[in-house]
Amino acid sequence: MLSGKQIVLIISGGIAAYKSLDLIRRLKERGARVIPVMTGGAQEFITPLAVGALSAEKVFTGLFDREAEHDVGHIRLARDHDLILIAPATANLMAKMAHGIADDLATAILLATDKPVLAAPAMNPKMWQNPATQHNLTVLKDRGIRFCGPASGEMAEKGEAGVGRMSEPLDIVAAVQTMIRGRDLQAGRLPLAGRHVLITSGPTHEPIDPVRYIANRSSGKQGHALAEAAREAGARVTLVCGPVNLPDPADVTVIRVETAAEMLKAVETSLPADIAIMAAAVADWRMASEGTQKIKKDGSGKPPALELTENPDILATIGHHQSLRPKLLIGFAAETRDLLTNALGKLERKNADWIVANDVSPATGIMGGDANTIHLVSRSGVEDWPQMSKTDVARQIVARAADTLNGAAKT
Ligand code: C5P
Repeated sequence: MLSGKQIVLIISGGIAAYKSLDLIRRLKERGARVIPVMTGGAQEFITPLAVGALSAEKVFTGLFDREAEHDVGHIRLARDHDLILIAPATANLMAKMAHGIADDLATAILLATDKPVLAAPAMNPKMWQNPATQHNLTVLKDRGIRFCGPASGEMAEKGEAGVGRMSEPLDIVAAVQTMIRGRDLQAGRLPLAGRHVLITSGPTHEPIDPVRYIANRSSGKQGHALAEAAREAGARVTLVCGPVNLPDPADVTVIRVETAAEMLKAVETSLPADIAIMAAAVADWRMASEGTQKIKKDGSGKPPALELTENPDILATIGHHQSLRPKLLIGFAAETRDLLTNALGKLERKNADWIVANDVSPATGIMGGDANTIHLVSRSGVEDWPQMSKTDVARQIVARAADTLNGAAKT
């Protein structure tokens, strides 16, 4: 998440400049304001018109632009933002930076700035390998400039390949996020800094025999989004997740489990936590005894009787824990009917502080989908939230949890 962050994007002159258009879009999608600066070379590859349209900002191009100098000035451009991103960073721009040359707006900003700088180099592999460029790279790294890439692969020049391609926009966005988050953490600006948040996510699989299992349709999207949101808020995050088809969120301790019993054990060993959010769709039942051999048809035409037994309730177990109950305990209630009555019952029975209730009838498309409509049920009442993406639901739950923990709000 980059909400409220301002990024000066310096685009220098290389064929990779076309990828900067997508990069602007990706940064804006995450809530950042992107203020573009283009060198003369960049304008040979892409137009200020396209950059201005995508960023919805004035595009700065010249050092001696009277209007811009009067209005903003290169010194303010260098100082008033959270981060300066150079993408693509050409060999020429890196060389100028290394030597303190300031003969255009981009290099003047880079010389005047006291903000963090991230560069995504892009150039021909021979130019990258050249000792002059490698020397400049070392000089710049020593001065604290961070680098993303270059990646290796095919070049625009026919038949050329090697290290020199600009990193993909999403990789650059990830590097920007890590850098900004690191600075916010250092400055103690994140609401969950120093806190431990424990989250369960996904379904559990309960074996019937060595080849079959009981499962459910939980995708883990909401739980994983919560883990990312808690990490963005500065928390140390432990994510205990059942079998899902999702990548592990970055900078989160992920414990992968299969069954409810394994999930309970992983949760208990991960305590204590300041906040626990139990978003997993834990199977209510497992086989009373799991066979070691595959169950076969016996020829009688009758299906086998599957004897089930109840699984431990993880939320209730930690809700009633004498010493290790987290300060804020949040459960989910996925229901297809009597949503709020069921949610209130769970709040009491499991001794949770909040229940996030959602209607998972197939018509809602919530199970497996990207959007969610939730009701936040607590002892002080029920709040109906509008439909949002699972990412936004996660951010708002985490923001509310941080406020509650930090004493800013009571729910
Ligand atoms: O009772 P029900 O399964 O509907 O309760 C849902 C809430 O309880 C969720 O937060 C879920 O993660 C949690 N739960 C649990 N262990 C179980 C069953 C549910 O932690 N065995």
